[in-house]
Amino acid sequence: MQITLARPDDWHLHLRDGEAMRAVLPYSARRFARAIIMPNLKPPITTVAAAADYRRRILAALPEGVRFEPLMTLYLTDDTPADEIRRAAGSGFVQAVKLYPAGATTHSDAGVTDLAKCDAALAEMERAGMPLLMHGEVSDPAIDLFDRERVFVEQVLQPLLERRPGLRVVFEHLTTKEAAEFVAASDGRVGATITAQHLLFNRNAIFRGGVHPHYYCLPVLKREMHREALLRAATSGCPRFFLGTDSAPHARHAKEAACGCAGCFTAASALEMYAEAFERAGALDQLEAFASFNGADFYRLPRNRGSVTLKKESWTLPAAVPYADGAELVPLRGGEPVAWKLRD
Ligand code: NCD
Ligand code: ZN
Repeated sequence: MQITLARPDDWHLHLRDGEAMRAVLPYSARRFARAIIMPNLKPPITTVAAAADYRRRILAALPEGVRFEPLMTLYLTDDTPADEIRRAAGSGFVQAVKLYPAGATTHSDAGVTDLAKCDAALAEMERAGMPLLMHGEVSDPAIDLFDRERVFVEQVLQPLLERRPGLRVVFEHLTTKEAAEFVAASDGRVGATITAQHLLFNRNAIFRGGVHPHYYCLPVLKREMHREALLRAATSGCPRFFLGTDSAPHARHAKEAACGCAGCFTAASALEMYAEAFERAGALDQLEAFASFNGADFYRLPRNRGSVTLKKESWTLPAAVPYADGAELVPLRGGEPVAWKLRD
C-alpha cells in the first residue's frame, strides 16, 4: 500500500543555528516544501533584520539542489515596536510573530511578561493580518503543569480574541481536549497545529518503567482522552487544524540529564508518524488536507506543487544521528520501527 500527497509543509519547526542547523535541516527539507521557523534562538530573532540574516543562513545550509522555503517569524517581546511589525508585514518573508509567555518553555526568558505591554504591536498585527503564533500555556508556577494550556485558553486567549476582534492566531502544538474544542468552535481567524507525538502518545510514554526523557516536550504529553480528542480534531476535516511537528532538537547529553531539556526531535520521521496516526484512526484520506492544504490556506500562501509518496513498509529509525560539537541527537522512537517509509 502507498499514498501520494501534495508536497506538505511543516507549520512549526525549530532548526536552531550553525552546525546544529546543518545537521537537522536535511531531514525537514527532504519531506517538506516550507516550514515556519521558530525564532527562539539565543539571542532570539526579534527584528526583521535578524530574521533576514537567519533566513540567509538557512538557505546557505541547504544541501546542493534541494529546494526548501523557510518562512520566518519574529519573537514577540514586551517592547516589540509597532514599526517592527509594519516592517515584518512588508518584508515578504516574515509570515508571523511568535508569543512565548516568559518562562513557559525552552529559550522563553525574553518572552512576554504581560500581553497588555504588547498592545501596540498586536494592534498592528491585527491591521496587517499577520498571525500571532502562540505557545498556549501560562507560566505561573502555581498552576499545575498539566493544566497550563486549559488555563491559558480561559485567562489569555479568550480575552485577547475579544479585545482584538480582527487578530488572526495560531494555537501552536495543541495538547488538550479543551484547546481542540475551543479551536473547533472558533471562527476562521483561529488555526492550530498538532504534533505527531501528541497524536501517537499519551503521558504514560514518559514514565513507562522509568523516565524516558526523549518523550519530554512542552506542552507535555497529556492523558489518553486528550490524545483521542486531538486525533479527532486532526482527522475531522476542519480546515483550521494543520501539521506542525515542533521538532525541537537537543543534544543527547542535554536530554539525558538531571534537568533535561524539553523538546522531541521528530524531523527524521514526523511525516511518517502522522501517517501512522491517521491510518490507525481509519482516516488516511484526511492526511493530505491536514499536511498539505490547511496550513497554506490559513497563511494565505499558495498550495505546493509536486508530491511525496509514503509506502507502508517498516524501517528502523536510527538510534542516534550526528549533531553539533561531536554530540549525538536521539530521535523520538530512535532504534524502533516506523510503519511508513518515504519514497525517493
Ligand atoms: C521547544 C524548543 O526546544 O525550542 N521545546 C519543546 O519542548 N517544544 C520550545 C517550544 O516549542 O516550546
Ligand atoms: Zn516549538
